[in-house]
Amino acid sequence: MTPLNVLLIGSGGREHALAWAISASPLLGKLFCAPGNPGIARHASCVAIDIADHAAVVAFCRDNAIGFVVVGPEAPLVAGIADDLRAAGIKVFGPSKAAAQLEGSKGFTKDFCAEFAIPTGAYGRFTDKAAALSYARAKGAPIVIKADGLAAGKGVTVAMTLDEAIAAIDDIFAGQFGAAECVIEEFLDGEEASFFALCDGEHAVALTAAQDHKRVGDGDTGPNTGGMGAYSPAPIVTDAVAERVMAEIIRPTVAGMAKRGTPFKGVLFAGLMIGRNGPKLIEYNVRFGDPECQVMMLRLKDDILTLLLASADGTLDRVSVRWRNDTALSVVMATKGYPGSYGKGSEIRNLEAAGAGDDIEIFHAGTALKDGKLVANGGRVLNVAALGKDAAQAQRRAYEAVDRIDWPDGFCRRDIGWRAIQGR
Ligand code: AMP
Ligand code: GLY
Repeated sequence: MTPLNVLLIGSGGREHALAWAISASPLLGKLFCAPGNPGIARHASCVAIDIADHAAVVAFCRDNAIGFVVVGPEAPLVAGIADDLRAAGIKVFGPSKAAAQLEGSKGFTKDFCAEFAIPTGAYGRFTDKAAALSYARAKGAPIVIKADGLAAGKGVTVAMTLDEAIAAIDDIFAGQFGAAECVIEEFLDGEEASFFALCDGEHAVALTAAQDHKRVGDGDTGPNTGGMGAYSPAPIVTDAVAERVMAEIIRPTVAGMAKRGTPFKGVLFAGLMIGRNGPKLIEYNVRFGDPECQVMMLRLKDDILTLLLASADGTLDRVSVRWRNDTALSVVMATKGYPGSYGKGSEIRNLEAAGAGDDIEIFHAGTALKDGKLVANGGRVLNVAALGKDAAQAQRRAYEAVDRIDWPDGFCRRDIGWRAIQGR
């Protein structure tokens, strides 16, 4: 087979993990990444094209004989980059704009779940403030208030009191999150997990599950973040739970999207609440999780490019996916101050030595090169990931690597994976 030139879209830790895995593929010709980061640059040629300019992305693909585009983040998918690439005859991993609504609109997903009997919390959808308030009052707390649309995780309030719920509704209808639309949802009790399945429009293949830690502080305290660490497998997602998720949530979703004429191709990331009555869907994302992807790539035994191509080609019924039994665990190092305000430009030293060893991989999330030095360039900056025979060993290896990194301006949680370790 002719080597395949691949363009990866994105610049975070998820894309670094994808670039690391793709670069090991026997199918690969040249790997490019737009825009990429200094870690990704070890595996790919980083190119400064504006990924919001789809015509520029198409032109780059034509000029560089790109045979396959892998889209990392959700924003370009929701903006229709996969449609524009397909229209230009370029193969792409990721859903169409219409199918990306599963992440782009919470209201869309709730209505979809109702239509296809997919287990999720009861809900109401509102464009009228008075109606939203009276629904919340009638249901009472605890209750969950969500702004519709992509709010980067910020538009969700888990209100433990009615006053909090009312304040959240006020904010949404004051236009704090763009369009004044909200979803009000039943509070689900249980343990959260992230479940991933590859889809090709018709078939779905289970990948694996992971769990992340959203709060900034040890013991899962403090403000929410984009994720401070993750591990895989997720002990709560037993084989029996995974089978139920496929049967009750993932396969009905793939069938429902196909029936509506908007088949879903790409990775479905189901955010689950696993309670006494089994798994319920909290939300869908239409791309790999960040930082879940980082730990999944460490555990994947098979060729990632073969799997992503099967999603694009509609041949997932012919693949199987194997995972290491080991646990992979990743610790996020962030700039002090995150998720509040933080500075940029502090120097990070000794990263290469810290990442040495077969069981360690350090993925860059928000770094930059400045005068030849590696510096922090964001809130979440590094993902220090390790494999171990169990969660305790993976955790110990990850923190040993963290402690070798010389970055006084950085911090991390010290307890990533605590639930998996205590569960043993
Ligand atoms: P979302 O952006 O929809 O994933 O929500 C962000 C976080 O809010 C989730 O990861 C959960 O921790 C929490 N959450 C969302 N919906 C619910 C719900 N119905 N019940 C309990 N917690 C929820
Ligand atoms: N780790 C959660 C996400 O990627 O949205």
